[in-house]
Amino acid sequence: MAQAMFRPRRLREKALLRRLVRETRLSVDDLVYPVFAVHGRGVREPIASMPGQVRMSIDELQKEAKDAAGMGIPALLLFGLPEDKDPRGSEAYAEDGIVQQAVRAVKDTVSDLLVVTDVCLCQYTSHGHCGVVEQGSVRNDATLELLARVAVSHAEAGADMVAPSDMMDGRVGAIREALDEGGFVDTPIMAYSAKYASAFYGPFREAADSTPQFGDRRSYQMDPANGVEAMREIALDLDEGADIIMVKPALPYLDVVSRAKAEFGVPLAAYSVSGEYAMIKAAAQLGWLDEKRVMIEALTAIRRAGADIVITYFAKDAARLLEHGER
Ligand code: PBG
Repeated sequence: MAQAMFRPRRLREKALLRRLVRETRLSVDDLVYPVFAVHGRGVREPIASMPGQVRMSIDELQKEAKDAAGMGIPALLLFGLPEDKDPRGSEAYAEDGIVQQAVRAVKDTVSDLLVVTDVCLCQYTSHGHCGVVEQGSVRNDATLELLARVAVSHAEAGADMVAPSDMMDGRVGAIREALDEGGFVDTPIMAYSAKYASAFYGPFREAADSTPQFGDRRSYQMDPANGVEAMREIALDLDEGADIIMVKPALPYLDVVSRAKAEFGVPLAAYSVSGEYAMIKAAAQLGWLDEKRVMIEALTAIRRAGADIVITYFAKDAARLLEHGER
């Protein structure tokens, strides 16, 4: 008897069958929504290169947070724009800094939403770098102390988790130690472990006004050509006490996401960054792509590669679609 032919199409014929054998689920539970807080009241300032995203004053952020929680989104990732910048980024660790105020306000108004804070200096420094600058270069060890202060000040304000994005060596360890000393032993760290020096951050830098005033970030963020090195960065961060690791950007680095999941098997986040969002938005506005389908496909692909958590500016749009079972 002739060998029966295996026909993969049998399982693709009916939508219900496709649902039964689907390997990857994208759920609102996986999503983290990045937001930008600014000083003032009643401010909702559109970000030109990120259509649909705005910089919000704290009163508006409270509404946005309620909205996100109501849609079932588990967490916000909070960025702040300071009143003033200085060489040491002092508003980043000020008790009444924009992020500290925003955390308190959101935690006061919404109970079922995590607030994760981005721990970095670049929005707050006059030179726009993620660390202390001396003689024209970014000083690693002098920066650690400031980053630790930022993280502790966020925890004091009530942050549920801190997320260092600066890429200084040893910062996870320094932050863990400072949190523990401050009595925040239970505050987890989501480390931007494999963060690349990527041009896909362009729109974010407009949003957060954090473009370096000289040079670039290649002396601290990773070379996009390196994959093995990403595993080493992750191993270091885990060693220093990271609870969740992150790969960033997401779509051009899915191989790194996949390797990280296979090698470490720890909770893994992927940050689908501003440029990934902007590309889809721009093509959709031109009528060149079907925005909703491309969005769901991209987010699902990030999950398929191995990410447990997807940080995305599409969080609300995706939550809306997923709620209606549109897949
Ligand atoms: C701050 C930071 C950046 C992003 C997140 N945190 C910008 C950068 O490193 O230049 C980028 C996020 C995005 O593009 O969506 N260090």
